[in-house]
Amino acid sequence: MAAKIIVFCNVKGGPGKTTLAVNVAATLAQKHKVAVIDADPQQSAVKYDSDAPDGQGLPMPVVGYPEEKINHTLRKLINDYDYIVVDTPPSSLAISNITKSALIPADLAIVPVVPSPLGIRETLPMSALFAEINELRESADAAPLESRLVINRYDPRKSLSQQLPAALKNIPVKLLRTKIRDREAYNHAALDGCSVHETRASGWDDASEDIQKLTEEIRKIVG
Ligand SMILES: Nc1ncnc2c1ncn2[C@@H]1O[C@H](COP(=O)(O)OP(=O)(O)O)[C@@H](O)[C@H]1O
Ligand SMILES: [Mg+2]
Repeated sequence: MAAKIIVFCNVKGGPGKTTLAVNVAATLAQKHKVAVIDADPQQSAVKYDSDAPDGQGLPMPVVGYPEEKINHTLRKLINDYDYIVVDTPPSSLAISNITKSALIPADLAIVPVVPSPLGIRETLPMSALFAEINELRESADAAPLESRLVINRYDPRKSLSQQLPAALKNIPVKLLRTKIRDREAYNHAALDGCSVHETRASGWDDASEDIQKLTEEIRKIVG
């Protein structure tokens, strides 16, 4: 079976693309053959576990490929894995072509959104990007791209978090049911170069539960 390609993307910087890509990939890797392709020229996913002690770190390979021809690379790797998770750069005009290229063969695009006014405003262009990708896919007789928003850094005590699901109705992309809560454990896991399932830092159990739920929702969509 060809690998399912899951692309974490948002033109906005900092909503958790790398964090969610790495942790979801580590969860899928518990039962499947998984690779992460880091398409961000900053290479933060590649560097994620570079300081981890030997034999520890992430349970799947993370390969850097910050190139506009990433769609060709993804197609070459498609028979080697069950899932390929792609981390993409935030956009400036020059590098958004990398994200577009990754979305051409993708099975699912996941867009993390954080509860802040900028978080929503800067995520708005994503639906136009998906429409553009779908025109390209249609002319190549490919199926439309599945895409979903996911709320990250959710804090139920804060009004911006409470208002976010309603505010996201302005973006014509479906919202996943799982909300990823704001937990220190994500930063600690990144410092230790492991996933939130392995860290024992504050809030790891909530983080681990949220990531399991998110991974399950993603698996149901891509099959
Ligand atoms: N759910 C969360 N709770 C707490 N911190 C988070 C959460 N998600 C991401 N972060 C932190 O937010 C920062 C930006 O996340 P990152 O994944 O690098 O964003 P992006 O790749 O979209 O630029 C990192 O320091 C990361 O540890
Ligand atoms: Mg990143």
